[in-house]
Amino acid sequence: MPKIKVDLGKNSYDINIGVDTLRNIGEVYDPKVFTEQVAIVTDPLVEELYGSRVRASLREAGCQVHTIEVPRGEKYKSLKMAAAIYDQLVALGFHRDSTIITLGGGVIGDLAGFVAATYMRGINLIQVPTTLLAQVDSSVGGKTAVNHPRGKNLIGVFYQPDLVYIDVKTLTTLPARELCTGLSEVIKYGMIKDKTFFEFIENNAHHLNTKAFEEEDLMRAALKVWTTIVAESCKIKTAVVEKDETEQGLRAILNFGHTAGHALEVLSKYQKYEHGEAIAIGMLVACRIANRLKTFDEGKTARLEKLLTKLKLPTRIDNLSAERISKAFWVDKKVKGGKIRLVLPKRIGEVEVVDDVPFAVIKKALKDTGAR
Ligand SMILES: NC(=O)c1ccc[n+]([C@@H]2O[C@H](COP(=O)([O-])OP(=O)(O)OC[C@H]3O[C@@H](n4cnc5c(N)ncnc54)[C@H](O)[C@@H]3O)[C@@H](O)[C@H]2O)c1
Repeated sequence: MPKIKVDLGKNSYDINIGVDTLRNIGEVYDPKVFTEQVAIVTDPLVEELYGSRVRASLREAGCQVHTIEVPRGEKYKSLKMAAAIYDQLVALGFHRDSTIITLGGGVIGDLAGFVAATYMRGINLIQVPTTLLAQVDSSVGGKTAVNHPRGKNLIGVFYQPDLVYIDVKTLTTLPARELCTGLSEVIKYGMIKDKTFFEFIENNAHHLNTKAFEEEDLMRAALKVWTTIVAESCKIKTAVVEKDETEQGLRAILNFGHTAGHALEVLSKYQKYEHGEAIAIGMLVACRIANRLKTFDEGKTARLEKLLTKLKLPTRIDNLSAERISKAFWVDKKVKGGKIRLVLPKRIGEVEVVDDVPFAVIKKALKDTGAR
């Protein structure tokens, strides 16, 4: 079972990665680390799929387990929902040494992570991510947040978990679109930090779909590949987070593809694209900006596009003007001191942060990617 250590001084923790390990989660119970009082925060679907095995294992280990359900959907990542969870924790008599276990996707992880960070100024937190996006991205690095009606993730805090516990087999119940959208962040890691990993994804793309879960032998082979994908992604994110825990500098490279991607999400009112789909297109826009600045080879952009297509991620912008999208760049958090700061590729496996990219170049790159 791969185990990755996230070294953040007193905030250090492990990421345990395995296959079919949810039923053994109680083995991590350590009375020196957390008390027997545990609340699993989850949603009704994940509860139905995985709740009972997690509870059974924790109970066998001697924990008193409570379950708090949050309805499914991004709109429940709210202060109102956080307050409803606080109410339940108070009613259950949760104290400082109690533990929250998040069981679900990024919505549950961000929301219940935020609650763990703020309830009694911070209680124990174990992240048990069950979507690809949550396994490779949101559960690692300590960003927790809830949304505000005026914007996503506006209220939040950095709060590192005590453990991230990943059962890769949970990926086998994800809908195809959810699996694809998480792959976008995986490809991003290859692009920003690790050419060998990028090539691993290219060479194993045929395993990375829900069809591979339909038959026992194929599934076994696919889960091996998925375990590498999740472990390598976590290693790359960990390496970046260790150098920049609270996003003062280096961590910005994790935003590769996110400025254009975020603009597309905002302009389509979060209706048209899943997050990873918008990032897939955003990465291509970033590549084409670098192509036009002559700092990145066009053949490499074609290579990325080919991989995205193979993995059923979108590669073209349709029905939006380059003018509108580029204007929307300015509402992104990555705009610093009135300048657009973009993360652009230098080669596959390396990116750089570039200030002052001419507006005209951004518009051309958007048009190269299908914008009007
Ligand atoms: N904290 C961070 O660093 C960070 C990074 C990226 C994204 N995020 C946040 O993550 C959220 C998106 O997360 P997400 O993509 O995981 O979406 P999500 O949490 O909404 O999960 C998607 C759906 O998948 C279902 N699901 C979860 N696990 C399943 C499984 N194993 N089988 C079948 N269905 C399952 C859930 O019921 C849910 O409805 C956003 O709120 C975003 O802001 C946070």
